Amino acid sequence: MPEHDVLIIGAGLAGQRAALAAAREGVSVGIISKVHPVRSHSVAAAGGINAAISVADDWRSHAYDTVKGSDFLGDQDAIEVMCSEAPGEVMHLEHIGVTFHRNDAGELDLRAFGGASMNRTAYVADITGQAILHVLYEQLMKHSSSVERFEEWFVTSLIIDDDGGCAGVIARDIRTGRMETFAAKNVILASGGAGQCFKPTTNALICTADGITQAYRAGAPLMDMEMIQYHPTTLAENGFLITEGARGEGAHLLNSEGERFMSKMAPNKMELASRDVVSRAEQIEINEGRGVGPDGRGIYLDITVVPRKRTLEALREIVNIGKDFAGVDITREPIVIQPGQHYIMGGVKTDKDGRTPIAGLYAAGEVACVSVHGGNRLGANSLLDTLIFGRRAGEHAAARARSLAMPSVSEAQLRRDAEMIEQIIARPRAGRRISEIKEELGTTMNQHVAVFRDEQGLTAAREVVVRLKEEAATAYVDDRGTVFNQDVLGAIELGYMLDAAETMVVAALERKESRGAQFRTDFPERNDAEWLKHININCGEDGEPKVSYSPVTITQWQPEERKY
Ligand code: FUM
Repeated sequence: MPEHDVLIIGAGLAGQRAALAAAREGVSVGIISKVHPVRSHSVAAAGGINAAISVADDWRSHAYDTVKGSDFLGDQDAIEVMCSEAPGEVMHLEHIGVTFHRNDAGELDLRAFGGASMNRTAYVADITGQAILHVLYEQLMKHSSSVERFEEWFVTSLIIDDDGGCAGVIARDIRTGRMETFAAKNVILASGGAGQCFKPTTNALICTADGITQAYRAGAPLMDMEMIQYHPTTLAENGFLITEGARGEGAHLLNSEGERFMSKMAPNKMELASRDVVSRAEQIEINEGRGVGPDGRGIYLDITVVPRKRTLEALREIVNIGKDFAGVDITREPIVIQPGQHYIMGGVKTDKDGRTPIAGLYAAGEVACVSVHGGNRLGANSLLDTLIFGRRAGEHAAARARSLAMPSVSEAQLRRDAEMIEQIIARPRAGRRISEIKEELGTTMNQHVAVFRDEQGLTAAREVVVRLKEEAATAYVDDRGTVFNQDVLGAIELGYMLDAAETMVVAALERKESRGAQFRTDFPERNDAEWLKHININCGEDGEPKVSYSPVTITQWQPEERKY
């Protein structure tokens, strides 16, 4: 049975940064990832990473922008940690080999991004996540004697011991179908978000809420699950991300009348207001009949106003995406975009060191909710979150490991999970296919748990999710083999997504106000008197979501009206 001081689930930026931090502390580290690490969803992060590194900037200004962006739901102590540690982290990345863009003076260049009061986004063209991910992968190679990788392994459950602490995980080798028990003194969940609960989404097919639901089922609370980010610029048909970096470089949003409509909602920041504000403004234009594109459900993103040379240099990935997936040369004509699901601000509730209330279980990155993003995340704060809290979780878990013995773990849970998989494979070919249920989940969430919500739509969404959970229990798979059986993994992932989606809908129904990404047309105002609090969801003994609340931590910035 493999044993590790620190076992990390997920090898995106949070996972690899946690691994590097723990390895540098000299403990044994395992990383389990269901895809090759450099194919983790962090690879898709485009526009950059925020840090107050300019001499004219101050981390407190970054922190204030983040608090305001969160619509005052972010915990300010955690935001202070993230923003004050940001410059050191970006410098560290630069020193280990990330080739950030430099300006003519040879300094790190900083581009404008949404909700920021000044340019503070360091970037590598529009492939920043890819650049950082590859460097972290290389750096970890230096620690190959203490870091063991399990690539293309799929976690089926967390092991919770008799004292209620986390003692490891059960996982399946995707290549062979072999099940294995992994014992660990600490487990760090870094398995990313839940975007595949929605269709379309900017998220990769692997973003299926695995860690969120594993922790939830194991007894950890989820927080802020109602806060789902719709990115203002995604391609209509497939949800591909068109980076906010485009607007950072000066691109305009136009309605069917050629109007820069952001002047109505955000006269100061215009296209660079925070994402919830821009997505809402776009959706209003579309709903009121000023949309563009074949069905009027889009908005023009006009990048032709950016000098062509600059676009080809700083936005080269979306030049390719425009050509390959929309047949548009973005340097010469506007491209049709629409708001699309991009990120989940909520997740497994943690403290500033990534600890969950379950001893030995940590979470970092999109799977977690510290909460630094509150009701709405600022663009380019996600890479930062993964790295800061990935590192902190790795360091904390390594320190904790030193005082602990390796837990002794039985094989009973492995047998239970293996049986669960056998049962899925043996289901008769009746009922619905996994893919059909996933499709219905995604379109339902995208219809009712999107930019605008109301009680009727959310109730309808809940009913659909509950029905889909029943249908998923008997849904069949075609592949009955052991080698790369993605079909059976799809069935397990569907279960993860349905549980997570249910918590999103329950939390969105619960919050009877509008704040950040949650805009309730039936409760259109922010209501600090009643709702300046986090919604937590636990899995009850009957398997039903149970709601509780926790206070928002306010340090220096009192809630005020939010204007851009
Ligand atoms: O638009 C973007 O480049 C996305 C960045 C982010 O979500 O932080």
